[in-house]
Amino acid sequence: MQAYYFKSLPSTNDKAMELAHQLTTPEFSYVVAEEQTNGRGRNGNSWCSSAGGGLYMSMLLRPQLPAELLPQLTLVAGVAVCDVLKSFFHSENTAEVGIKWPNDILVNGRKVAGILCEAELSGEHAAIVVGIGINISFTQEQLPVRVLYPATSLLLELGDSAVLPSPVGLAEGVAVALKEQFEQFYLSHQVFDRWSRYDILAGKRITISTPDRGIVAGIASGITPSGELKLIDEQTGSLSVITAGSIIEA
Ligand code: BTN
Repeated sequence: MQAYYFKSLPSTNDKAMELAHQLTTPEFSYVVAEEQTNGRGRNGNSWCSSAGGGLYMSMLLRPQLPAELLPQLTLVAGVAVCDVLKSFFHSENTAEVGIKWPNDILVNGRKVAGILCEAELSGEHAAIVVGIGINISFTQEQLPVRVLYPATSLLLELGDSAVLPSPVGLAEGVAVALKEQFEQFYLSHQVFDRWSRYDILAGKRITISTPDRGIVAGIASGITPSGELKLIDEQTGSLSVITAGSIIEA
């Protein structure tokens, strides 16, 4: 895996996409920046990206997959990030590391990491960039205020006495886990079982704002084999399948 390290970048996703335009850049190459000056999250949010606070990295994929499987790549990335983060919580620490559909990584109900996949699928250099931000040593005051699923960091969850990973060390571990999970998905076209182990919404009553169907409420009931969220209406028992949306109540 080819790694590219930078002191400062506007966004590692943009740099990875720029590298994707050079056809000689191999799949699974990844970009890491000490800081981002314009780090972005989903839904037009910015991502807290100051030097020393977190890991900011983006991996380049050139998947030869049917188009309908591509949305699941973000779920695959979530599994890899959870596998790595879980290893920081020892058995005496009962932290729950999990994923809030589709891809917010939570520890004990607080958001510690996020994933932003961006694609350029036309042309000869079709590529997907998987951007990952993990809060390592931010204090609560340095993190954005979030009402639902407040932001946290490894420092806040593990405590002052914990030995925290360096961003570069963490990047290497995450890159290995990502490559392994993507290669497995390329062969099996399945992520359902691996993702469901980390599903923190399953069985919870939630309200979700969707771009196509407005506000929908129900009991979260796992994902479909193709990665959509299943919601069961409490009154009628009818099933809704949600392709995209943001949870606004839980
Ligand atoms: C989210 O909203 O949860 C997704 C956050 C993704 C942040 C990462 S940091 C590295 C990469 N570069 C960016 O500009 N964003 C992603």
